[in-house]
Parts: sequence; C-alpha cells; structure tokens
Amino acid sequence: MSKLVSGFSKLSKTEKINWLITNHLPNQDAAEKILKQYWNSDQKLQQLHDEFIENTVTNYYLPLGVAPNFVINDKIYTIPMTTEESSVVAAASKAAKYWQTRGGFKTTVLSTIKIGQVHFTYSGSFKALEDYFNLVKPQLIEDAKPITKNMDKRGGGILNIELKNKTNDLEHYYQLHATFETLDAMGANFINSCLEQFAKTFKAEAEKVLPQPVNVIMSILSNYVPECIVRAEVSCKVEDLAEKDIDPNAFAEKFIQAVNIAEIEPYRAVTHNKGIMNGIDAVVLATGNDFRAVEAGVHAYAAKDGTYSSLTHAKIDNGIFTFWMEVPLALGTVGGLTNLHPLVKLALEILDKPNAKQLMQIVAVAGLAQNFAALRSLTTTGIQEGHMKMHLMNILNQFEATAEEKIKIVHHFKTNVVTHSAVVNAIENLRH
Ligand code: MEV
Repeated sequence: MSKLVSGFSKLSKTEKINWLITNHLPNQDAAEKILKQYWNSDQKLQQLHDEFIENTVTNYYLPLGVAPNFVINDKIYTIPMTTEESSVVAAASKAAKYWQTRGGFKTTVLSTIKIGQVHFTYSGSFKALEDYFNLVKPQLIEDAKPITKNMDKRGGGILNIELKNKTNDLEHYYQLHATFETLDAMGANFINSCLEQFAKTFKAEAEKVLPQPVNVIMSILSNYVPECIVRAEVSCKVEDLAEKDIDPNAFAEKFIQAVNIAEIEPYRAVTHNKGIMNGIDAVVLATGNDFRAVEAGVHAYAAKDGTYSSLTHAKIDNGIFTFWMEVPLALGTVGGLTNLHPLVKLALEILDKPNAKQLMQIVAVAGLAQNFAALRSLTTTGIQEGHMKMHLMNILNQFEATAEEKIKIVHHFKTNVVTHSAVVNAIENLRH
C-alpha cells in the first residue's frame, strides 16, 4: 500500500529515491541500480533533464530512429522518429522508398490559424453585452500589446476576437473567441497569456459599464485547430503501383476499399487513424512537440462531421491513383523544448532546421506514409508478417538470447512465419 507524503517536491533527488524504494520497491538495491543506470554522466545534461519536470528520479529512454529516402515536394528528407513500437520506423522507411520512385510526396499548408477562448457567464441582456464588447474590443488588443509586441513585429499576433453567445447551450454562457497567428511557435504560452490579459481587461472594464458583473470561468487555448491544416498526398498511374506478385489494378481497388471502410466504420477508423498517429506522434515527439495536443486535435478533426471517420482518402481518376490526407497540426520549431533538449535540436537539424510550416508538412507525410504502409500490408500479406518480424528482437531479448542465438534464430525466421510460440520453440530447440 502506498503511503501519503507531504513536502515531497522539496526533498532532494536522493531523498526522493530513498522514499520511493523504501515505500514501493521491495528489491531496493536492484531498483536503485536501475534508476541510477539511466542517469547521464554529464551532470549538466542530467540537471537539464531533472528540471524539465517536477520530482525527476531518472530518465526514461525511448529509441530515436531515422527513416531515410522521403521525397517531399522534390526535396529529400531523413525523418527522425521516436517510438517504442518496433515496426513503425521500418514501415515508414518502406513507404518512403516506395514513393521515392513514384513522384514522392506533395504537401501544402492550407491554413495556420490557432484558437483560444475566454469562457465567461453574464446574466444581463445580450444586447448590452454585445455593445460593451464592441466598445472594449480595441482595448483588449491594446492591453495585450506588451505580450504581442514581438510576435506582431515578426508578422504574427492576434487575428481577431469575437463574442460568441452560447446561451442556447448553457445558461448565461458566453465566450471571447480569439484567433491567432503564432508563426514558428506552437504558441500555447503566447495564446494563454493573451487570453488571461483579455479576461482581466474585459472583466475590469465591464465593472465600469455593465449593470451585471462578468464572471470569468477560464481562459485557455483550444487544441482543436481545424483552421491549422496541412495536406499531404501521393499519386501515380495505377499501372505504376505494380510490384512483383501484385496486380496494380487489384491492389489499387482493394486499397481504396480499405480506405472507404475506414471512412464509414468508426471501429475501423479508430485503428486506421491510430496507424497514422504512429507516424505523426513519432516525429512530433522527436521534434519536442506536444503529442497530446496533436492527438486530441487530430481525433476531434476526424469526428468533425459528426461520425468518427478516416483521416485519409483515396481515389482513382483517369487511371491515376491518389491517396491523401488533411490534418490539423499545431507545431512549433522555436520555443518549448525545441532549443533546450539536445536530441530535439539534433532532430530539427536532421530535418534541415524547418520552420513550423515545413515541419507540419514533414509530420503529415510521416502520417500518410505510415497509413500507406499499414494498408499495403493489411490488403496484401496481412499485418502480422512485417509486425512480427520487427517484434522478433523483443521476444529474443525477453528470453535473453545471446548474440549467436539471435543470428541463428533471425536466419531461421527469414523463411518461417514469426509467432510468439514459434520463436519460443525455436529458442528451446536451439538451447537443447
Ligand atoms: C498498429 O500499430 C497500427 C495498425 O493497426 C494500423 C492499421 O490497422 O491501419 C497496423
């Protein structure tokens, strides 16, 4: 049973570890060894990681892999990806190579508007509130100038503020609905600071003018960004889809059918989109962006028409196969972790230091490529063949296979189907 503790955050790192292993980890020596094994010997680097969050006791590793051969708008990229799922980087690399000889990926940023809201209640008349809003709007923008000054200089800032009447949905509920251009920053801190200033001004001025008080409930950006959209696409002649053992027409039709199923069937759409997020999240994470924000926004977008649906679409027109996706991606290449975490800086360098718009395009391509790879496997060999091949090393590591055993078993499974039990049998046979 866990024990309550007070003042935990004020303890030193060593004291926190001692508390943790005394209270939660019966095998204390082994636990302490594992925690410390992941500390970085470079004290400055370790301190940087310690200070990212509260109560850091160690570092949590995930692999950073790279998927080469991505051709995006005729430029070649090697995409850094951070993920724990064994087949993701392999699938991305395979899709990149496939499309590299078929015209590559084409991308366009369609919009970059971000949204934030001040949620408040007001019990007086809407007309009075509306008049007051129109009067105070210039001052809302003016009072936020100390926050927006630098962003304004670079060409971004507040785009607009609207008053929204939501009283049909919730009694007395209104919003200041604001739109922003945050350029190369993801913009969460910028937007939230602006919103909190709007709320302050809006409430204070209302006291002078309105008969009833404005009651601010909260001020926060929205991670739903349906006006911050990037489009990624691949296309080629149907006949160019040909590969050994694969008839291009049959392949294209089955592939499109698989997409159509995900368009109308939410159970399938969730898994289909999860595969897209395998690619998107891995690049979002590698580049130090907020993958929870991206996940929330993308899935909300997938349900924008009232039913959860596929993010990707496919068609054949005049003998041309086209496969595309439009996704909302609020990303940054400055601020946040981007110039703090050494591996994030390196990942951005691998991508040739993209701006936020370029990163949106790269991330969308990683998602589209991942979906292509998944559907290609699902509609031809089935997913397990590739999946289990990549998972083989994890099973071997679970059984603490030696280097020699690994070589022999990997060789064996070049021509045999990988399943968990087949690998266990192979290890047992080898060991006896
Ligand atoms: C597994 O992580 C992702 C897939 O299930 C995606 C899909 O089914 O499209 C293979």
